[in-house]
Amino acid sequence: MAINKKQHAQWSSSFGFVLAAVGSAVGLGNIWKFPYMVGESGGSAFVIAYLFCIALIGFPILVAEWFIGRRGQKNPINTFMDVAESEGRSRSWGIVGASGILGGFLILSFYSVIGGWALNYITKTGSGAFVGQDSDAVGATFDAMLASAGTLTIWHTVFMIITALIVGVGVTKGIEAASKILMPLLGIILFVIVGYNVVSGGFGEAFSYLFAPDLSKLNSQIVLAALGHAFFTLSIGMGIMVAYGSYLGQEVNLLKTARLVIILDTVIALAAGLAIFPIIFSNGLDPASGPGLIFVSLPIAFGKMTGGTIIGAMFFLLITFAAVTSSISLLEPSVELLEERTSLNRTMATVVAAVVVWLLGIAALLSFNLWSDVLIMGNNIFDALDKLTSKFLLPITGLAGIIFFAWRMNQDAIRAELNLSGTAWQVWQVVSKFIAPIAVLVVFVTTLIGMG
Ligand code: PFF
Repeated sequence: MAINKKQHAQWSSSFGFVLAAVGSAVGLGNIWKFPYMVGESGGSAFVIAYLFCIALIGFPILVAEWFIGRRGQKNPINTFMDVAESEGRSRSWGIVGASGILGGFLILSFYSVIGGWALNYITKTGSGAFVGQDSDAVGATFDAMLASAGTLTIWHTVFMIITALIVGVGVTKGIEAASKILMPLLGIILFVIVGYNVVSGGFGEAFSYLFAPDLSKLNSQIVLAALGHAFFTLSIGMGIMVAYGSYLGQEVNLLKTARLVIILDTVIALAAGLAIFPIIFSNGLDPASGPGLIFVSLPIAFGKMTGGTIIGAMFFLLITFAAVTSSISLLEPSVELLEERTSLNRTMATVVAAVVVWLLGIAALLSFNLWSDVLIMGNNIFDALDKLTSKFLLPITGLAGIIFFAWRMNQDAIRAELNLSGTAWQVWQVVSKFIAPIAVLVVFVTTLIGMG
């Protein structure tokens, strides 16, 4: 039951909502970040920790954020304030919405830099630059891009302009409609690459690297990384899903929808793993080489396979599209806030937010070249932004959100609205009241200690 008068139109159908939510969730996190984090953490241990985090923490928090958003029907800050008030709690819960918006804003700065890499690789791959190249040459091309502050700035700028134009002109709906075709196409191309790997080697090794349960490698750092990534990939802990929930009609079944979004998101991430690791192993590359992993591996395969120039260019085009459907969801809440809280109109609000994010992004991209020795607590600016958001802001915001939901809201109303009873309700209570918050807390405190 919504407590405010409708502030904006609702999704025309639950399908429209699923598209937008999947658009936000599926992005660079699945195809760029997931594989390199798996590689840095030694394979299946990370995958297993990640799957647990998604199921036990990501799922309840996603449902909680949509639920709160649907109740509040406003931007994340006002939503938290109003829902808290209607539950007889302090309006200072609004701060949860604020920290979420800040997290999204900071993420966009470095997200746009990587979106720029993907854009650059559309042209590189499409012009046949990788045809017949070995892993050394492909690696050298990537290093040359990183070394050039000018190149990185140009592509980061192009990516930010695309994002700002879509948000400023307000054509997000059109983008969501396009994702109906383009997202499945991305899935198909990923599976084409996986198919190529099955016939050209390295697949078995990659499969067991990703899935053979090897818990001996599991340690607290890996669990931390997996938790942070679960938040990142599902776009939770950022107020974005709260904002999206405000558009949801009462008829939408939150549990089923969350299950669908999570399954799609996870399938894409795992497919990206199966697309990338066979190439890594069959070319003797280092799985732990970090953020450049997809850019130094996939082009080798594109350079060899029949039609690789076109398939490769399409692949990077589709990743860019997936990145844009996520980046618009990262920018939108800040723009909405500026529009509501200042005298700026939508266009100016978008320009202001985008320029600040763009400047931060410049600082992030200089970490790869001119400012590589500018360190904040031992991290370059790019890594500092990534860690501050994934390991601090998102978990804190998500934790506060689930605590509010499970401990501060009327549980009978939640049970009725989620339509749960008997054992299912008991399981839900244990997960949302205890397992999810305690797990985040443990992980968060361990991070704090680790940072000290
Ligand atoms: N979930 C997106 C991805 O995996 O690429 C990234 C993202 C989008 C994170 C929107 C947070 C967000 F609010």
